[in-house]
Amino acid sequence: MMSIVCLDLCSLLSLVLYTVSLDPSQIQAAAGFSILHSCTVYPENGSISGVFIAMPKNKKYSFNATIAREVCESLSAHIATRAEVQLANHNGLQTCRYGWVKEQIAVIPRTEKNEKCGQNKVGVITWAASPSTSFDVFCFSLTGHFPKRMV
Ligand SMILES: *[C@@H]1O[C@H](CO)[C@@H](O)[C@H](O)[C@H]1NC(C)=O
Ligand SMILES: *[C@@H]1O[C@H](CO)[C@@H](O)[C@H](O)[C@H]1NC(C)=O
Repeated sequence: MMSIVCLDLCSLLSLVLYTVSLDPSQIQAAAGFSILHSCTVYPENGSISGVFIAMPKNKKYSFNATIAREVCESLSAHIATRAEVQLANHNGLQTCRYGWVKEQIAVIPRTEKNEKCGQNKVGVITWAASPSTSFDVFCFSLTGHFPKRMV
């Protein structure tokens, strides 16, 4: 089940998906506003090679593969491909949390071994989980994510 934080997010996403008569820029602004107040990103200072991970503020895994894609779009980004995460990992990105990528697999990029993160492996560790499973999401944007101060 989605957390309370993400219920807000999801109801807003439904609004975005099903309300076609509103001005698109207003919808995007509204979605951005909601997500900025319910999600946090890493790296906080932007991205590595365009890639950043988005997660709920309460750090509870909450995005299935469908919602994951919408979260990135609402942050003016798109869901990262495995190759984009791989390049970012090569350039130093590591997380201790799984995130969806476009190919609908969950990945965790590691630059250092850690028993608690990614099975003590380095590189992009993958998990072929069911699309209904909740993880974070890796997003890609050449301009990074929304204004840093607001997240
Ligand atoms: C941005 O954050 C990452 C991760 O915290 C860090 O490795 C990197 O040095 C930071 N870059 C700048 C320009 O502050
Ligand atoms: C993800 O969650 C949404 C909202 O609960 C639901 O509509 C959608 O079918 C789910 N997608 C998957 C792949 O489970």
